[in-house]
Amino acid sequence: MSADDWKRQAAEQALIHVRSGMKLGLGTGSTAAKFVQLLGEKVRDGLDVVCVPTSEATRAQAASLGIKLATLDDHPLLDLTVDGADEIDEELRLIKGGGGALLREKIVAVASNRVIIIADHSKRVDTLGAFALPIEVVPFGLKSTLGLISDMAADAGCTGSMTLRKGAGTQPFISDNGNYILDCAFGNIDDPESLEDALKLIPGVVESGLFIGIADLAIIAGPMGIEVLSSEDSEFELDV
Ligand code: A5P
Repeated sequence: MSADDWKRQAAEQALIHVRSGMKLGLGTGSTAAKFVQLLGEKVRDGLDVVCVPTSEATRAQAASLGIKLATLDDHPLLDLTVDGADEIDEELRLIKGGGGALLREKIVAVASNRVIIIADHSKRVDTLGAFALPIEVVPFGLKSTLGLISDMAADAGCTGSMTLRKGAGTQPFISDNGNYILDCAFGNIDDPESLEDALKLIPGVVESGLFIGIADLAIIAGPMGIEVLSSEDSEFELDV
């Protein structure tokens, strides 16, 4: 089996938690796209859900499958969001933003009653940080913001190179919100909470890709089967 198959397996398991009448958040990335694909098939068979996408890419995919779409302003509270991740640790802390959609992903996830993360086993880590942490920043004052991130991250025990993500050609990548993304190669992030707290104090930082205390359940598929991680206060029934 390939990573693609495991992503699909995880997506299939997440779909078990979807019921007609739900308001859903749809994640971004190749794993979330598997879920959207499967959801589209269920919708074609009569499942009645309304969905808020976390990116223009997901919006286009869902629309092409005939999935009913809405905005978070139409439905400020969602029942369930299903999304992927770049890294997942034992405590269900995540790094997200590899696809550049971290801000909308975090807004949608936090507006959701429950959040399921789906992934193949390559995303499961002991310590976050091998994947460079994406941080969304406003273009104005980039150099000042870079300096502050470097200082504040060092105080939180994290040092490493910070790279402005490139889009087409030599141009910076621009997020759906018109911002830049810095990919921060900090290596092991031993205290993600302290780093997140520090980053929040920097005016030019819009959001970091650290998702802490947000996911309720992670469904991780791999050669050894399906691993399920559940947060302590999750009310999910573990029927996978
Ligand atoms: C998008 O911004 C990210 O948060 C994705 O959820 C993450 O990068 C996982 O993407 P894949 O499922 O493509 O690995």
